[in-house]
Amino acid sequence: MALAMAAAFAAVPAAAADVKAGRALAEAKCAVCHGLDGIAKIAEAPNLAGQNDNYLTKQLEAFKSGERQNQMMSIVIEPLSEDDIANLVTYFSGIPISVGTLPGG
Ligand code: HEC
Repeated sequence: MALAMAAAFAAVPAAAADVKAGRALAEAKCAVCHGLDGIAKIAEAPNLAGQNDNYLTKQLEAFKSGERQNQMMSIVIEPLSEDDIANLVTYFSGIPISVGTLPGG
């Protein structure tokens, strides 16, 4: 089961991702905690804007398989397909970010 799932995720070609579908899903399922702009709305949630796509995919796969556990994320990720995950990753990783003055300088 875990192996089949890993194989299924590995087979998703990045080029097939649909950023509009990802945005719609993000608005419906993620924005309340992570923000539609990828800047978190609750203290417990991390920012997702502009995050590395490999990293995002790895974390979402880990929530899906149960390897990474979080009460909020496990509920959210459960019904999502591998295409949904690819679309969401394309959306959040594609949000442009810019960095201001660095602290401690
Ligand atoms: C009810 C609030 C909530 C919703 C809705 C939610 N998340 Fe999360 N998400 C969290 C929290 C809290 C964490 C931090 C989990 C932890 O501490 O391990 C998290 C973590 C993550 C991470 C890991 C980020 C990292 O830096 O490791 C990703 C990726 C993520 N969420 C994506 C999503 C996506 C995509 C959706 C929509 C399908 C979504 N989340 C919906 C609360 C939420």
